[in-house]
Amino acid sequence: MTKRLKGKTAIITGGASGIGAAMVQRFVAEGARVLSTDIQLEQGQKIANDAGALFMEQNVSEASGWQSVMDRAQAEFGRLDILVNNAGIVMGKTIEEIDLDSWHHLLAINLTGVMLGCQSAIGVMKKNSGGSSGAIINIASTSAFAALPGDVAYTASKSAVRMLTRSVAVHCAQQGLNIRCNNIVPGGTHSGIIDKAKQVVPDMYDRVAAMSPLNRMGQGADMAGAAVYLASEDAGFVTGSDLLVDGGMLAVHPGY
Ligand SMILES: NC(=O)c1ccc[n+]([C@@H]2O[C@H](COP(=O)([O-])OP(=O)(O)OC[C@H]3O[C@@H](n4cnc5c(N)ncnc54)[C@H](O)[C@@H]3O)[C@@H](O)[C@H]2O)c1
Repeated sequence: MTKRLKGKTAIITGGASGIGAAMVQRFVAEGARVLSTDIQLEQGQKIANDAGALFMEQNVSEASGWQSVMDRAQAEFGRLDILVNNAGIVMGKTIEEIDLDSWHHLLAINLTGVMLGCQSAIGVMKKNSGGSSGAIINIASTSAFAALPGDVAYTASKSAVRMLTRSVAVHCAQQGLNIRCNNIVPGGTHSGIIDKAKQVVPDMYDRVAAMSPLNRMGQGADMAGAAVYLASEDAGFVTGSDLLVDGGMLAVHPGY
């Protein structure tokens, strides 16, 4: 490994599974000290232990939990360079099916959780020795560009995250904080979400692969590579952007 994140410290939410787990492994391999968080304790701890990362329980929708996570990062690392707001859920309900509790539940995790993460991280990153600095990476979705009729709450949440990122990025830039904030936009990627869907849609893997002109599912490693770039000095002039890692899905005209 090239150790592109040597000396950096990172918090990755949703680190127990799928894309988050791949990021935990890759960030450690690239030299970062990593605190992984999740609501899945056993699996989260195992992934972190195997990778050489720290782990703690966190529900990203709770403000008090964010305070505890930042306190732990400060105590263990003394600084915070990178936050990846990765934790997220799907709901699978149309506008006619969704009830208010389900709507609030998804938005609390996928949107409020990201807002709380950005707010908490900026507070700590501003105090970094050597001056305010950091990189925040939010995980959006192709559904922020092309709607999923079968998941109205997910589509709305990821669209909102896409613009939240820009608001955060511009605020930090205009305040001279040297904190960048960008989106990764994954296409269909092999993960816990996809495996769960496969239980009801047996040909799920083939369907997801067919969404990309490259004709394969994305892998956690594809997203982790993109996150390393956005977290590294190579992306020093990149803020408020969407990095599409979708195998060309959004590039193709629906007629082809
Ligand atoms: N897999 C895809 O095709 C795809 C595509 C676009 C975007 N995404 C996004 O990527 C991110 C990661 O998802 P994934 O595909 O790896 O799915 P995943 O289910 O494998 O991982 C999501 C993780 O988030 C955790 N989590 C759920 N609710 C939480 C909460 N309240 N607090 C803390 N952790 C919580 C889960 O326990 C799980 O470990 C999500 O934001 C998802 O929306 C995934």
